[in-house]
Amino acid sequence: MPLPKTGTGAPDRTTHEATVTSKQTLSVIDNRTGKKYEIPIQNDTIHATDLRQIRVNDDDFGMMSYDPAFNNTASCKSAVTFIDGDKGILRYRGYPIEQLAETSTFLETAYLIIHGELPTRPQQTEWVDQITHHTFIHENIKKLMEGFRYDAHPMGMFVSTVAALSTFYPEASRVRDAQSRYRQIIRLIAKAPTLAAFAYRHNTGMPYAYPDNDLSYTGNVLNMMFKTTEAKYQPNPVLEHALDVLFILHADHEQNCSANAMRAVGSSEADPYSAMAAAAAALYGPLHGGANEQVLRMLREIGHIENVSEYIKRVKAKEVKLMGFGHRVYKNYDPRAKIIKRVADEVFEVVGRNPLIDIALELERIALQDDYFVSHKLYPNVDFYSGLIYEALRFPVAMFPVLFAIGRTPGWLAQWQEMLIDPEQKIARPRQVYIGAVKRDYVPIQKRS
Ligand code: ACO
Repeated sequence: MPLPKTGTGAPDRTTHEATVTSKQTLSVIDNRTGKKYEIPIQNDTIHATDLRQIRVNDDDFGMMSYDPAFNNTASCKSAVTFIDGDKGILRYRGYPIEQLAETSTFLETAYLIIHGELPTRPQQTEWVDQITHHTFIHENIKKLMEGFRYDAHPMGMFVSTVAALSTFYPEASRVRDAQSRYRQIIRLIAKAPTLAAFAYRHNTGMPYAYPDNDLSYTGNVLNMMFKTTEAKYQPNPVLEHALDVLFILHADHEQNCSANAMRAVGSSEADPYSAMAAAAAALYGPLHGGANEQVLRMLREIGHIENVSEYIKRVKAKEVKLMGFGHRVYKNYDPRAKIIKRVADEVFEVVGRNPLIDIALELERIALQDDYFVSHKLYPNVDFYSGLIYEALRFPVAMFPVLFAIGRTPGWLAQWQEMLIDPEQKIARPRQVYIGAVKRDYVPIQKRS
């Protein structure tokens, strides 16, 4: 049974069946030599190494494919997340994102992503219990945090402290040991919010608030971020639920830049803390998870609905990018952005309307009618509205990518584990097309002009 490819078509399409009687090969004629090659097709792909037999002569290294930024290269087989970018479909382990956002919880979704199936009630109880009891971090991590400048970007602190965790759990280097792997997965999902919250408290000059095991995962995130003098922090259930949905929406997104970093670093058998620090570093960039921060800065810069048309003109003149728009895979409305818009309304009912939402809605309205955006298939992505909710929840913009990282943690870990147990995977090591100088002899400095 052929596997569905992601990003380009639905698994339900019937072309595989229609062509099942035809030959599943690709014929290639090399016009340099006139030779013909027959290359097997599997899952609608050819194996890149099958191109190597195409040579001009025996000394020739063989044909390679050139694909900067992996525009059309599948780097793995994966059973975690399915995306159909043309139709705007996103599913974790087969379950539509809309159903999970509506009915699941973040921890249940995390279980699904890691294990491949929804938990039974006892499995769910045990999972939640394990995560809840691994939320504390070693006191020395706190000391490490204290070393950062008062205004250190919390994402920089998050990346560094995730990496630092590896020094506290040396057994994590046994990445071929399934039990050890599982322990680190629990620890990372449990401790990511604690690191994130401590980074936030450091920034605001507030004393660190320790985890409260009586609260839900997301309730505890709010507790560690916002607890002040009250004996027991009580999260607002609407805000707790909204943040939980945001975490679900961010939990995985197949082979994105940070998942690719997680897999690439993990492929050298580095421990998962080091690999996840690399993934978080990739997420930090403004073209990836840092985009939600940039969206807020952009909305503030626009300042008023009246300035939207002028800003759109600048985007079309390629002076600036419309942050929160466009996606490598989605060439349709990002299904997560639709859900986030609904969640935003729920949050605004509790905390009041964020005035920037009107600018965002106007930007979306104009962009979706404009030829430039239509022809480039640019739609709002998950980051376009998520920042408005985070801001309504009182998070500073610098915390946005950190919140994204908490949600993405199970996805990174599922991708990492899948890579390690996949017999077809090896250390990630791409080829290059060398375009530098040919061999030349060293020239002593006195003879250089
Ligand atoms: N604003 C204006 N034009 C855009 C935008 C945008 N946000 N995004 C893409 N384009 C244009 C490009 O200029 C290019 O135009 P051209 O063909 O006339 O030269 C065309 O659309 C294709 O764009 P690419 O950059 O080639 O698309 P790619 O798939 O490489 O990039 C990306 C995808 C990085 C997300 C891009 O759309 C972007 O920079 N968006 C803004 C940042 C953002 O929101 N990132 C978050 C992504 S979601 C996430 O990571 C969670």
